[in-house]
Amino acid sequence: MSEKKARLSFEGSDKTIELPMYQGTLGPEVVDVRGLTAKGLFTFDPGFVSTASCESAITYIDGAEGTLLHRGYPIDQLAEHSNFLETCYLLLNGELPDKKQNQDFKESIRYHTMVHEQLYNFFNGFPRDAHPMAIMVGVVGALSAFYHDTIDIDDPEHRRLAAHRLIAKLPTIADMTYKHSIGQPFMYPRNDLSYSENFLHMMFSTPCEEPNISPTLAKAMDVIFLLHADHEQNASTSTVRLAGSTGANPYACISSGISALWGPAHGGANEAVLSMLGEIGDETQIEKYIAKAKDKDDPFRLMGFGHRVYKNFDPRSRVMRKICDEVLAELGVEDDPLFRMARKLEKIALEDDYFIERKLYPNVDFYSGIILKAMGIPTSMFTVIFAVGRTPGWISHWNEMLSSPMKIGRPRQLYTGAKQRDYPAK
Ligand code: CMC
Repeated sequence: MSEKKARLSFEGSDKTIELPMYQGTLGPEVVDVRGLTAKGLFTFDPGFVSTASCESAITYIDGAEGTLLHRGYPIDQLAEHSNFLETCYLLLNGELPDKKQNQDFKESIRYHTMVHEQLYNFFNGFPRDAHPMAIMVGVVGALSAFYHDTIDIDDPEHRRLAAHRLIAKLPTIADMTYKHSIGQPFMYPRNDLSYSENFLHMMFSTPCEEPNISPTLAKAMDVIFLLHADHEQNASTSTVRLAGSTGANPYACISSGISALWGPAHGGANEAVLSMLGEIGDETQIEKYIAKAKDKDDPFRLMGFGHRVYKNFDPRSRVMRKICDEVLAELGVEDDPLFRMARKLEKIALEDDYFIERKLYPNVDFYSGIILKAMGIPTSMFTVIFAVGRTPGWISHWNEMLSSPMKIGRPRQLYTGAKQRDYPAK
């Protein structure tokens, strides 16, 4: 941390306040405004878009450059050379595992894939047409009830155990929400399969039949999980941190992250891509919808295009595009009207000045939505899959926060309501 200071001066006054400044290993300098409260001042930053809410060594994003690093490693290199579980280890522990650590970690995750038999009863309370995310919020939170003897958040071993349990059990619970919705029996995890193969097995197998899992589809699933594994202090991760700062147990915290992820502005965008393709209907309507997207008076936007942070390109979408090609080819559905329409839309938008000038490239949700749809996964499960992928990120941030002294999160406000007044006499 440097000795550099920022100086705050006030119009019509000689008063100045000196504020310490810090430089991280990458990224913009930050001004430490903590001292302002004692001087009777708050900073105003709705949505916290200019606020570094914490110090973190997990993930770095440079939106202008299109950079995403996990513990320093570029996301495209991880997608090419690593796999989801190894990336989970990296996020949790800060370094890539050696051979033994990798083996031990995989075994620990495998060991925890089953859920308690009592947990099955929870599903009976949910209607068959419940949104899978509604079930996820409830059932993941309910895990707290099963592990109350190992949720001492000050004990690093308890935290490690919770992290492994959550990474291992989320796919099982996710697939149970799907099986519940279609009225099929739940499938037990198969620990001879890889993480992603097992996910597809629990989703598509029945007690009568176990379809072969194509290596291309298993790889695609793994890369989808990996590309969603963490994304710095986004809304759901910040929610997990805020919940965790109260001392809440890890299962409750991850459930709060799942709730925040559910919103269409966050994890729901890949589902929105498919709804949009449905609304466009067929290729002859694309020009009309491109015109609608460009019309300032029309609220319609091309779902799956643009990003709040990435103003150059989303490094994850390059990887996802390649996987998308492989999956469509493997499944022989390139000529399916829906996917042809998606390709045409992508091409037109990439060549159109409106989108080029505003740097509106297809984002990760555009391709993941298409891949998951092609794999036969219903759109209601898309955000659930995002939640499975994001779990190691959430739990790594929660663990990082608890590993050093911390304060309960408590933002302040610019109050614009009524001043104090007396209750009217009756
Ligand atoms: N279609 C048409 N025009 C768009 C779009 C779009 N998808 N996105 C932005 N614009 C226009 C917008 O109208 C504005 O035009 P102008 O400068 O003429 O007023 C300009 O581009 C800048 O837009 P903005 O709203 O200031 O950009 P933003 O950074 O606030 O919004 C966004 C980012 C992701 C909310 C937005 O691009 C959007 O709504 N995209 C569609 C939804 C979507 O795909 N969301 C998923 C994002 S990835 C999620 C994740 O990483 O977890």
